[in-house]
Amino acid sequence: MRQKIVAGNWKMNKSLTEAQTLASEVINMVKDEYRGNGVMVLCPPSPFLGVVVNLAKGQPNVGVGAQNCHEKDSGAYTGEISTSMIKSTGATYVIIGHSERREFFNENDALLAQKVSKVLDEGLTPIFCCGEPLGIRESGNHIKFVKDQLSNGLFHLSDEDFKKVVVAYEPIWAIGTGKTASSDQAQEMHHELRLHLATKFGDISNDTSVLYGGSVKPDNAADLFSRPDVDGGLVGGASLKSRDFADIVKAI
Ligand code: PGA
Repeated sequence: MRQKIVAGNWKMNKSLTEAQTLASEVINMVKDEYRGNGVMVLCPPSPFLGVVVNLAKGQPNVGVGAQNCHEKDSGAYTGEISTSMIKSTGATYVIIGHSERREFFNENDALLAQKVSKVLDEGLTPIFCCGEPLGIRESGNHIKFVKDQLSNGLFHLSDEDFKKVVVAYEPIWAIGTGKTASSDQAQEMHHELRLHLATKFGDISNDTSVLYGGSVKPDNAADLFSRPDVDGGLVGGASLKSRDFADIVKAI
């Protein structure tokens, strides 16, 4: 279902106490100040999932998600977390294919396609990330590059499964750099991505939430989110400050 979503990706930051403080502050601010029907999703580091789920309990329109998962059910995979573990905490979203996972952990399209299926089989919602590095953008091949990521990561899904997927377009050159894509650049890519998804999934692509990520801040969020194909954001750095993140949520 196409929804307005702002997801905060905390990455590898915060202690348990800091995570509790951040989650409670942002949940309270959004409860007091946000009157829309969009969804806020908090994606803390996995040791804190259960704690954040408890803080979010009973809050309408607040979800909790993991930042990654393993593609297998269980077993001898030291250090990994499974989708059933994530589900058992009460979290309902999983970020899949973040560029940092692709780059630093060598996650390729074939593996990500398996992870997406695993998340869906578990009854969770994948937030599937795509996005081009600077060199590809400068070469002018960025639209094809990102379309290929979508084909390789998602086109094996049935229509029923694809309906549950959230897509996040995150140009790598904009992540953590303070360099945001302009709202025109975001809109152009999101529109192209939706057209591409339609070649496989038809009208369902009109119901897909496509989020923008890459240096979303309180002062650029409203402009980005005002564009017709931008359904919200995936936020890194600014999700670590409760006031900034709440202000971004208020912009959806
Ligand atoms: P950023 O990160 O907001 O710090 O650029 C976005 C992301 O990595 O999802």
